[in-house]
Amino acid sequence: MPDPRFSVSDSGFLLDGKPLQIRCGEVHAPRVPREYWRHRLQLVRAMGLNAVCAYLFWNLHEPEPGQFVWTGQADAAEFCRAAQDVGLWVILRPGPYACAEWEMGGLPWWLLKDRDVQLRTRDPKFLEPARRYLREVGRVLAPLQVTRGGPILMVQVENEYGFYGKDAEYMGEIRQALLGAGFDVPLFACNPVQHLRDGYRDDLLPVVNFGSDPAGAFAALRAVRPTGPLMCGEFYPGWFDTWGSPHHTGNSERYLADLKTMLDAGASFSIYMAHGGTTFGLWSGADRPFKPDTSSYDYDAPISEAGWTTSKFDATRELMSRYTAPSEWIPEPPQRNPVMTFAPTAVTECAPLFENLPEAIEDDRPRTMEQYDQGFGCILYRTTLPPGPAATLEAVAVHDFGFVYLDGQRIGVMDRRTRHFSILLPERMKPSRLDILVEAMGRVNFGVEVHDRKGLHRPVKFGGNELTGWHVFRFPIDDAQRASLRYDDRRTTGPAFWKCDIVLDESADTFLDMRPWGKGVAWVNGHCLGRFWNIGPTQTMYVPGPWLKKGANAFVIFDLLGPQQPVLAGLDRPILDQLSPELDFAPARRPKATLALDGVEPVHAGEFAPGSDAQSVTFRTPARGRFACIESLDAHDGKPFAAVAELDLLDESGNPISHERWTIAYVDSEELSAEDGSAENAIDGQVATFWHTRWSDSRPDHPHALVIDLGESRVVSGFRYVPRQGGDRVAGRIKRYRFYVGDELIKR
Ligand code: GLA
Ligand code: CA
Repeated sequence: MPDPRFSVSDSGFLLDGKPLQIRCGEVHAPRVPREYWRHRLQLVRAMGLNAVCAYLFWNLHEPEPGQFVWTGQADAAEFCRAAQDVGLWVILRPGPYACAEWEMGGLPWWLLKDRDVQLRTRDPKFLEPARRYLREVGRVLAPLQVTRGGPILMVQVENEYGFYGKDAEYMGEIRQALLGAGFDVPLFACNPVQHLRDGYRDDLLPVVNFGSDPAGAFAALRAVRPTGPLMCGEFYPGWFDTWGSPHHTGNSERYLADLKTMLDAGASFSIYMAHGGTTFGLWSGADRPFKPDTSSYDYDAPISEAGWTTSKFDATRELMSRYTAPSEWIPEPPQRNPVMTFAPTAVTECAPLFENLPEAIEDDRPRTMEQYDQGFGCILYRTTLPPGPAATLEAVAVHDFGFVYLDGQRIGVMDRRTRHFSILLPERMKPSRLDILVEAMGRVNFGVEVHDRKGLHRPVKFGGNELTGWHVFRFPIDDAQRASLRYDDRRTTGPAFWKCDIVLDESADTFLDMRPWGKGVAWVNGHCLGRFWNIGPTQTMYVPGPWLKKGANAFVIFDLLGPQQPVLAGLDRPILDQLSPELDFAPARRPKATLALDGVEPVHAGEFAPGSDAQSVTFRTPARGRFACIESLDAHDGKPFAAVAELDLLDESGNPISHERWTIAYVDSEELSAEDGSAENAIDGQVATFWHTRWSDSRPDHPHALVIDLGESRVVSGFRYVPRQGGDRVAGRIKRYRFYVGDELIKR
């Protein structure tokens, strides 16, 4: 076997015997119109980078068990060839789990048909399909490795597994599957600073993911692997958006300073995202416990969603130019693609959902969407209520929004964001038709909550008695179902499909103005543009020019709430940062509550160490309660702020409790305007996001309190606290604290 062109040495990477600093940018092929792949890759190259990092999403490539797709937006081999063509190496991240704010982190929904499957473990119900998928990845992409003349330099095993588990054997199985699939380039594992040791293996190169403090992160990496390349697997220039929360932007100065630190250290890195693009289709995921991601994946990345260069791009390109060898030429960026507008056009044809019911499935008791062999879209559950007094309708859970109708009249919405799963139904003088139309947003893509089964979770009770005798109607809103709809020109309120043909005299990029619309999904010429929702922060949808044509263009809008005005217009710029909480169909995010700690003994009081390391605390005696409260008494920097990146609670055996049923019950203060410091960030699983008390207009002092509603009474033996990350200058790191567990920590 000739010497490999690319290898890992004790101090870095070698290419053709010379040191190679990997300067990589993340781009996901399915998030870029295939017609623009080359354009975006040329931009990555023009930013002064020499590699592109690409996830594969298993569920995109295997929509049904054993049926593989590698064409169109899923043509990963073509994407790699295009990268090589423009002078970029490829770092491949095939999963089987990817995260990436992608539906179920890239895992296929059909795994959830089995009620006991344990995802991301050595459970054969997971491992067998995962091995089959990875064999398929090898069949298609192993020929594109650098060892065979292709651009693929390295392949990642799993993704930040340390957040999820500690089973190095599981990582070994995935590693073995990739070797068996024909990958003979270096294999690596990525993790955040706090989890580098979890699932660690000597036979996998460790790389560290972080958004700040490169020196601290690389010190943590060296503690795990004293020699070998220093590499940041994900370096965040911005962050993703979730519906109803402020648009995220990344601080350019800090981003450039940290990038320079890595360049000076000769470290390798991947900018996550160099270009985010759009999560087209119904592929957007959700953060835990349930914060659905927007379809725009702009990420405030150096290359905008529509492929425009930004000031962050220019500054990155200038910085890179100071660190590339004279022999290494950085090409000019390609021209921006043309943009157009089109005038507001009335959308006149309408097909009400309730007049377009598919074939009914009879079932004694309601089951989740997967049990009816459906993966995406909406599902309607119908039964009949007898005459009688007002009473409460209640489900164990609804994933994700349950629009409740009585004889066609909308009564209310069951909302997974607040875990509001019960609704009072009025008195009935005659038998009444009960409809629960459940909309499934993306499946949670992080943590154990990735076992996210959609639809109604039974039993469903009315007046305390389980309801039986249901009819179920599936709305996958796929091509076949949309083609079967019956439209007419009557206008309707409520869930409906709307369509119109808009004649355009050019086919350039544009931004569909969704401000007159409610909540749903949009298509143009059969291409699904993604989801929209009037609460924002996204108010427009990116429409790639190649998906339009001169002449008539068929637009279809599925709107669950109904438009204020059925009108469509094309703008020449995006609106990504406009929140409209007053339009939310559900009550304010959190029910009103007051803190009630007087006379309550803390289960633990202590002092956190300074710095950014995670800290675990075990209580002297485990405590039971439905609520858990952290109360800050002061901060290490003496300032009035408190911040928490992550809180995990430990059960009686010391394992983290799932966040599945958690909501924030109370917080005394949170920064919501100058940055997203909302309290939900303390339990979303991401160490890069944090709760932060107000600082933009007021600066309330300690004590600060954050109360988590666990959704049920649990035994809690301790907790794990991750301080706000970043260098030692960041504010909010708590010093003295008290911790409470109990059933009466708040008053509603
Ligand atoms: C983690 C994951 C990525 C992505 C980022 C947030 O680091 O590895 O896939 O989800 O968080 O954008
Ligand atoms: Ca967080």
